[in-house]
Amino acid sequence: MRVGYGGGIPPNIGEGDRAAGADGIRENLDPSWLRGDPPWLELFTVWLREAVDARIAEPNAMVLGTTDAEGHPATRTVLCKGVDASGIVFFTGYDSDKGRDLAAHPFASVTFPWIALERQVHFRGPVEHVSMEETEAYWFNRPRGSQLSALASDQSRPIGTRPDLEAKAAAVAEQFGGFDGDADVPVPPTWGGFRLIPTVVEFWQGRANRLHNRVRLTHSDDGWHAARLQP
Ligand SMILES: Cc1cc2nc3c(=O)[nH]c(=O)nc-3n(C[C@H](O)[C@H](O)[C@H](O)COP(=O)(O)O)c2cc1C
Repeated sequence: MRVGYGGGIPPNIGEGDRAAGADGIRENLDPSWLRGDPPWLELFTVWLREAVDARIAEPNAMVLGTTDAEGHPATRTVLCKGVDASGIVFFTGYDSDKGRDLAAHPFASVTFPWIALERQVHFRGPVEHVSMEETEAYWFNRPRGSQLSALASDQSRPIGTRPDLEAKAAAVAEQFGGFDGDADVPVPPTWGGFRLIPTVVEFWQGRANRLHNRVRLTHSDDGWHAARLQP
């Protein structure tokens, strides 16, 4: 745990602080960069492309925050599999812990932590199931092994041992001609996509001396409003 900037911190942990803002960024992130409809899409797409080009690991990974029926929060990483004006799409088990959370409270946050680029983008908003057509379009492009594993997994439910899990996956695979077979693997009945429909979007850019740039877009009945936030 970080307790300050002084002693007790392994030397490598502080590197990011010292590097912040020293990465050649010449322009300050500014609310005027946010344009178009919706105004977050163009800049987000540019930053995602730059994360891909920078070859950072899993550039489309995002930390998804949900709350359960009691209001207790939980986070985990999922992969963003679609971005357009309508929102941010990911795929998962509808009956997983996160799926149950989202059934109880259909609101979520996602954060793209592009630490190596000293950038972060954060979205919040309501979530909805994507259409079955959208789920199928993604599912039938997944590798067969991923399909079979998803079909075999009651995501977030306990199972005894690793061999139990492998036996369960093998039994499911067997029904469809095995992992090397060619019978179509159907979409699991409790699996599909969620779309987060952004109502708050925040872009964060690290700068020197922790005087970081934060620009937040908020959607209300009269449209989008951008504001600079103190770091
Ligand atoms: C890099 C990375 C990507 C992941 N992508 C997904 C994903 O797209 N969908 C998914 O259901 N789980 C994904 N996971 C696993 C989740 O983090 C999580 O363990 C799982 O979805 C169960 O979460 P839950 O019990 O909170 O529902 C990913 C994990 C990592 C580390």
